[in-house]
Amino acid sequence: MEQVVINGLSGNSTIYIGESIDSLSKYIPSENVFIITDKNVEALYGNRFPDFPVYAIEPGEGSKSFISATNVFRWLLDKGADRSSFIVGIGGGVVSDLAGFVASTFMRGVRFGFVATTLLSQVDASVGGKNGVNLDGFKNIVGTFNQPQFVICDISTLGTLHRDEYSNGLAEVVKHALIYDADKFSFLEKNKAGIMAFNQTIMTFLVNRSVNIKADIVTADERETGIRRKLNLGHTWGHAVEKVTGMPHGQAVSIGMAFSAGFSLKKGYLSKVEHDRIIALLTDLGLPITTTANPMVIFETLLRDKKKEQDGIHFVLMEGIGSVKVELLKTDEIKAFANEFAQ
Ligand SMILES: NC(=O)c1ccc[n+]([C@@H]2O[C@H](COP(=O)([O-])OP(=O)(O)OC[C@H]3O[C@@H](n4cnc5c(N)ncnc54)[C@H](O)[C@@H]3O)[C@@H](O)[C@H]2O)c1
Ligand SMILES: [Zn+2]
Repeated sequence: MEQVVINGLSGNSTIYIGESIDSLSKYIPSENVFIITDKNVEALYGNRFPDFPVYAIEPGEGSKSFISATNVFRWLLDKGADRSSFIVGIGGGVVSDLAGFVASTFMRGVRFGFVATTLLSQVDASVGGKNGVNLDGFKNIVGTFNQPQFVICDISTLGTLHRDEYSNGLAEVVKHALIYDADKFSFLEKNKAGIMAFNQTIMTFLVNRSVNIKADIVTADERETGIRRKLNLGHTWGHAVEKVTGMPHGQAVSIGMAFSAGFSLKKGYLSKVEHDRIIALLTDLGLPITTTANPMVIFETLLRDKKKEQDGIHFVLMEGIGSVKVELLKTDEIKAFANEFAQ
């Protein structure tokens, strides 16, 4: 088992990679614990939860809402939870974002931890201390920065993930390699087959590398004022693609990364060889690199979503595999490339 510690402003968070859900009891108090999960995860793993009250939300993004939070608050009160209670979120990013938000605000904040059961939550959502809910179509518009005491990444739980959910997480794994780690990128290229076949040893290595990269970045800039912006690679264009097409997040981010690679190539930051390696890896991992959606509709959505900062939009571009930079781009330049990218 590997351990990564994040020294956050709100306290330390330890991420245990390769730990088992069966060991959860070791990390929580012996009483006054409340578990939040979703119905899919409860059906698959509920018999392995420790014996505490369980609240299971409906699976999916729709549950990341004030209504769900309110329902959980009422349930906690009804069950006699108090300021010394401990909340555990067991599931994917929806569960950890909601459970983290509920724990951070219930009685002005109680202690909490996660068991992350999707690849996306292991490498991204549960790591870093951001939580929150959506409101009126705005994603993550209300929430807090607050570190969970622990995150257990049980790699074996990834074996039951739907194929699409698995590739969603892989997009974020590729993203981490592109931002920070050329060796990891080569490892991904060499181990494509093992990844697609869900080889647990390979996946443990990859989750560990991703968590280390995210932890380094988050420790350096917990509140996203500088370097943490690099984690937005593929997300500026990707979020707009996600909104317009309704495709899963990871797939949209993959298209966003292909967009950034193309843009970086055009600007002379990235070599053609590296650009082509990126496109090939995304494709080999079953991720899309283009969409048939109208690029101008995506561009307009991007403009609406992103508040213009000064005279443009902060965009993450690639300087080579393993190195990115954040640049303030003029919206006209993004628009012009959006048209080319679609060709
Ligand atoms: N807080 C952050 O920093 C951060 C970062 C990235 C993403 N997010 C958020 O994470 C959310 C997406 O997370 P997600 O992709 O994990 O989605 P999710 O939580 O909806 O899980 C995806 C699906 O997989 C199911 N599932 C979970 N674990 C399973 C398992 N082991 N086997 C089979 N099925 C399983 C779930 O029931 C759900 O249907 C979004 O709301 C996003 O905004 C947050
Ligand atoms: Zn993402």
